[in-house]
Amino acid sequence: MKNIQKVLITGGGSGIGLALARKFLAQGHQVSITGRNVSKLEQVKAALPQINIYQSDVTKEDQVQKLAQQLEKEWGGIDVLVNNAGIMLLLDSGNEGNDLTKQFEEIEINFQSPIRLLHHFLPQLKKSKKATLINVSSGLAYVSFAQAPVYSATKAALHFWTQAIRPQLKAHSIRVVELLPPVVDTKLAKDADLKDDNLKPMPPEKLAELFWKDYNKGKEEITPGISKQLKWMSRFAPKFIFKQLNKQVIPQK
Ligand SMILES: NC(=O)c1ccc[n+]([C@@H]2O[C@H](COP(=O)([O-])OP(=O)(O)OC[C@H]3O[C@@H](n4cnc5c(N)ncnc54)[C@H](OP(=O)(O)O)[C@@H]3O)[C@@H](O)[C@H]2O)c1
Repeated sequence: MKNIQKVLITGGGSGIGLALARKFLAQGHQVSITGRNVSKLEQVKAALPQINIYQSDVTKEDQVQKLAQQLEKEWGGIDVLVNNAGIMLLLDSGNEGNDLTKQFEEIEINFQSPIRLLHHFLPQLKKSKKATLINVSSGLAYVSFAQAPVYSATKAALHFWTQAIRPQLKAHSIRVVELLPPVVDTKLAKDADLKDDNLKPMPPEKLAELFWKDYNKGKEEITPGISKQLKWMSRFAPKFIFKQLNKQVIPQK
């Protein structure tokens, strides 16, 4: 009999999270998604009635605690936690008019919250027979992108954290996977309006397809599209690849 898994995807109401949700659902797994915008989640629920939706902000301690209690009560806990929620700010750090609160919020969403989510869902993952933690970082974890300095730093931090906890969680039979997407055609990428021919966005469905193949092969670090090149170039020609990626260092908008 097929092992049905209970999957929680943060920020699953759009983009990459939604494409991953569809993939897990198509394989018969049980999927819950979160987000701040409830009407967006309800629209997803209307299109995919089998999905479970929860309004929950990953930066709010009480909301994440409540979510963990709800999932324990309603579903008997989860098997797979996907830390996907994220935002990307383009900014010029040479501008003293920058909004500091927004930059700190970016750190909270992209880096602190995956730590928070793991903390509160650890008991559920520990009792699962097939537990997996999936962190969605970015190809920019390998090569810093000057137009998004805080974003790049959060993704590099998430990458290092993921590497460090992998052997620790292995001792508890929790598999740790990192998905490092290239530029993907989502609201996040559209809002950033990245103007570079090297950064042609990949459709989210294609990303989910590539993820699924590597995920099932048992890969730990999944680097679709240009992320694979960024990984190797960051090791063998770091200055070259940094320059290639950063021909434009100040955001145009
Ligand atoms: N698109 C790319 O090119 C690209 C490349 C590499 C990595 N990534 C990463 O992929 C992940 C998904 O991004 P995406 O491209 O799919 O963008 P997206 O469509 O904007 O999705 C991001 C999701 O995160 C949710 N979210 C944001 N802040 C949240 C919070 N505080 N609490 C709960 N949910 C929150 C948003 O929903 P609400 O606004 O309703 O909360 C939204 O559904 C991010 O971690 C991003 O950094 C994206």
